[in-house]
Amino acid sequence: VEHENEKTIEMTNELQYLIENYFSLQCRYQAAIRCVEAKLQNLDQEFESRHRRNPIHSMTSRLKTVPSIIDKLKRKDKPVSLNAAAENLTDIAGVRVICSYIDDIYTVADLLTSQDDVRVLRRRDYIASPKPNGYRSLHLVVEVPVYLQEGKRQVPVEIQIRTIAMDFWASLEHELRYKNTSEVTETISRSLAEAAKDIATLDQRMQTIHDQVASLRQREQQS
Ligand code: GTP
Ligand code: MG
Repeated sequence: VEHENEKTIEMTNELQYLIENYFSLQCRYQAAIRCVEAKLQNLDQEFESRHRRNPIHSMTSRLKTVPSIIDKLKRKDKPVSLNAAAENLTDIAGVRVICSYIDDIYTVADLLTSQDDVRVLRRRDYIASPKPNGYRSLHLVVEVPVYLQEGKRQVPVEIQIRTIAMDFWASLEHELRYKNTSEVTETISRSLAEAAKDIATLDQRMQTIHDQVASLRQREQQS
């Protein structure tokens, strides 16, 4: 019986240690998300005061769930631990930024990454080079400083920036991806890829019209 008790105590300690560490990890990444969100809100507001419109249509954020952290560590052949998660995953904290126009995507990305406490770890432009399935978005992994009791820590955040139309496409594609794969036929994949092209064309046209309206307005103001 004594043995059993010792084991229970040991388990409890281990579990407590794990839970405490998980909370401190969560705290750190949540702080990094708030930092990035604040930066994005600030630059959106400043842009609005200068140009009378918002480059950011909407924004969402998420912390990677424990099951998907575990899945991804296994997929990458890494040990399943909190340290391994912090060392190997750059998408524990995620922010998604939805813009109305393509140019806004690059404006937002440039304004954010030119701040001197934002360090770019990775930039992938799936708009210039879409994925074979048609996926388009600008991906950034940035590190931002988070101030904890132990001091300053650099924490990575994955940022996906895309238009409303690209987001619409990605949510449908994501939904199909997690359906029974055998049912997602060749035909569906092909029409999805075609829809992605149509969306790209539409985004271009909207940008062109928007630019024309903007230059008309500018001319009116000058005269
Ligand atoms: P992951 O292992 O999925 O993180 O891929 P990666 O490390 O190669 O990074 P990548 O920049 O390609 O993708 C990061 C994230 O972008 C994914 O977790 C998805 O949220 C999103 N994403 C990437 N490709 C697709 C896609 O084809 N469709 C959809 N719906 N989302 C995608
Ligand atoms: Mg990734």
